[in-house]
Amino acid sequence: MDLYEHQARELFEEHGILVPRAEVTDSPRGAREIARRLGGRVVVKAQVKTGGRGKAGGVRPAADPAAAELTARRILGMDIKGHTVGKVMLAEPVDIDREFYVSYVLDRSAGRFLAIASAEGGMDIEEVAATRPEAVARIPVDPAEGVTPAKAARIAEAAGLPPQTVDVLVRLWQVLVREDALLVEVNPLVRTAQGRIVALDGKVTLDDNAGFRQTRWGTEAAEHDDPLEARAAALGLNYVRLDGEVGIIGNGAGLVMSTLDVVAGCGARPADFLDIGGGASAQVMADGLSVILSDPAVKSVLVNVFGGITACDAVADGIVRALDEVRLTKPLVVRLDGNNAARGRAVLDARAHPLVEQATTMDGAARRAAQLAATT
Ligand SMILES: Nc1ncnc2c1ncn2[C@@H]1O[C@H](COP(=O)(O)OP(=O)(O)O)[C@@H](O)[C@H]1O
Ligand SMILES: [Mg+2]
Repeated sequence: MDLYEHQARELFEEHGILVPRAEVTDSPRGAREIARRLGGRVVVKAQVKTGGRGKAGGVRPAADPAAAELTARRILGMDIKGHTVGKVMLAEPVDIDREFYVSYVLDRSAGRFLAIASAEGGMDIEEVAATRPEAVARIPVDPAEGVTPAKAARIAEAAGLPPQTVDVLVRLWQVLVREDALLVEVNPLVRTAQGRIVALDGKVTLDDNAGFRQTRWGTEAAEHDDPLEARAAALGLNYVRLDGEVGIIGNGAGLVMSTLDVVAGCGARPADFLDIGGGASAQVMADGLSVILSDPAVKSVLVNVFGGITACDAVADGIVRALDEVRLTKPLVVRLDGNNAARGRAVLDARAHPLVEQATTMDGAARRAAQLAATT
C-alpha cells in the first residue's frame, strides 16, 4: 500500500528528517486558515497517490492566505492521472538551492535492497534516468547490514550528493525498516539556500504482509484505490485488478500466475489475478465471478482449476451454483484437470450453460479465452 505524501512526511519527521511545516485539509476555507498559521506564503499540494503532480498543475505556490484559498479551490477536485484530488497539503515554501533524488527500493530478483540516488533530482528525474543513466547511482544494500553511516557516505559519494545528506540517508533507511516499507523515496531532497537538507516530497510503499503490525494508518491503510479491488477485499477475495480483457480465476497463486503468462503468450492481456484458494466454494466462485464480470474491460473469463485436495467435481458444483447466483454476461472457458476431472466436466456438461465452454488443456483454454476476448 502506498502512503500519501502527508503521511510520508509525518514518518520522516518522526525519524528526525527535516521536512517543511505543513497541514492537510479538504476545503478551500481550511486552506486559508492553514496558510495563515504557516505565516502566509505556502505551497498548495494535491494529495493523490501518483507522481508528476507538479507537472500536472497539482503543486502551486500561493502568496498569502486568500491566494491559498483560491489555489486550493482550483486543485481540489482536479483529476491527476485518474486520481481525483480530495485533499491538499499546504506546506511552508522552502528556498531551494539544489534538488537531489534518493530512494531505497526492494530488488526482489537480487534479494536485496537498492539505494538509488542522484544529484539531479526534481521533476525531471525520469528523463535524467533515461537519457543519462550515469547520473543516477544504484548501490545494492544488504538488508542484514542496512545503511550504516559508512554505507550512507558511499551512497552519497557515488551519487555526488553533499556530505550533509549522509545523516538523512541513514534515517531514511530507519524509516524503511521500522515502518516495514518496500520503498521510500524522497524527490526532491533539497539543499536550501541556508544549507539545510530538507525532504520536500515523499513516497512510501508499505509491505501489506506486515499490515498486522502496522495498524497505524487504520482505515486509510485498508483503502484501495481501485473500486473493484476494494469490493473484492471486502468479500475476502485474493484479487488484483490488471488492465487487460481476459478475466482469470484459478486455485492457487502459482497456477494463477502461470495462467496469466499463458494468456499473455496467446496475445491477450489478463484483466485480473484471482486466486480462489483451496476450498473453491460456490460462494467464493460466485463472488469472484461477480467482481470480474463487473469490470467493463473484461471480454471473456477463464477458469483454470487443478483439482487436488478439493476435487474437480466439487469445483464444478461450485461453478454450477455460482451460475445460479450470478448472471453470466460474458463467455466463460473452464479447464478442469487433476483429481476427479472427468466427473467435474460431466457436471458442467449437464448444466449446459450457453456461455460456458470447456477445454481440456491449459494452453487450449487460454487460446480459446483469448480468441473469445478478441471477437466479443
Ligand atoms: N515546500 C516546497 N517549497 C518549495 N518548493 C516546493 C515545495 N514542495 C514542492 N516544491 C517544488 O515543486 C516540485 C514538485 O513537487 P513535488 O512535491 O515533488 O511533487 P511531484 O513529485 O508529484 O511533482 C518540487 O520538485 C519542488 O521544486
Ligand atoms: Mg516529487
